[in-house]
Amino acid sequence: MVDLVNTFVCGWPIEHSRSPIIHNYWIKRYGLRGKYEKLPVSPDDLTEFINCLPEGIYLGGNVTIPHKEKAYELIENLDPVAKKLGAVNTIWVSNQKIYGANTDGYGFLANLDQGVPDWDNENRKFQPVVILGAGGAARAIVDAAQSRGFSNIKIVNRTLSRAENLAIFFGEGVSAHCWEELPNLMEATGLIVNTTSLGMAGNHPLDIDLNILTKDCLVSDIVYVPLQTKFLQQAAERGLKTVDGLGMLLHQAVPGFEKWYGVKPEVSDELRALVISDLKETK
Ligand code: ATR
Repeated sequence: MVDLVNTFVCGWPIEHSRSPIIHNYWIKRYGLRGKYEKLPVSPDDLTEFINCLPEGIYLGGNVTIPHKEKAYELIENLDPVAKKLGAVNTIWVSNQKIYGANTDGYGFLANLDQGVPDWDNENRKFQPVVILGAGGAARAIVDAAQSRGFSNIKIVNRTLSRAENLAIFFGEGVSAHCWEELPNLMEATGLIVNTTSLGMAGNHPLDIDLNILTKDCLVSDIVYVPLQTKFLQQAAERGLKTVDGLGMLLHQAVPGFEKWYGVKPEVSDELRALVISDLKETK
């Protein structure tokens, strides 16, 4: 029998992915054999790629944009979160069967747990959460917040219908709002998260007046290029606690690595510094 040790991330395009830096760092750090590879897989080739995994050369891997929803359709054995969200980002092969999971919400929560321990305290759970954006990342984050007991979630999106679709999907306690409602919503919120692509290098910044937020509001961005977005910078200038987006990327990688290699890896300062230096180099 062939001894499988390699893993992958597939996407289209895939060149920008930082996942190989993360997983190859851990492979080395824990003295394991194997290599985590970047695989460009086009939408036309995804079905064959996934269906051939049981006979292939990989232990498993990650699936990224634009394949997360299609991977969900192709994989039968799904963890409850992937099943609910309709998207897969982590795959493993066992006994000729393909398994899929979604670890984005886990990554979001673990990042906040590491950055602001006790962020999900009882006081904050009573306050509304404001989520900016209504794409796949927002879906994973709403689900994650609900799993920690947050029961009042406001989704604010440029295209109201997308926010409404998410609100219907999640049901009670989740509502949809247009951008103009933001100042009112911000007054009472205990956690505000940007899941839009605003603020990402090359895009317009997310520029909203944060003076309305109370001093205890926690501010998070899933954008990590740049690491310190204007949104986070403005929050920090106001003295608010902030959590940047890089940690979500690092933490969402943990469950996959553990499945493939049997070691729960640490999201250390050294790893964070390594990825930050790569982000600087390629800017
Ligand atoms: P993902 O699946 O990664 O979350 P997505 O589905 O492309 O990505 O969602 C991107 C989010 O950024 C959406 O909420 C999008 O708003 P629309 O639904 O109205 O498109 C938001 N977004 C992108 N550019 C924006 C802009 N210039 N102003 C406001 N919102 C923007």
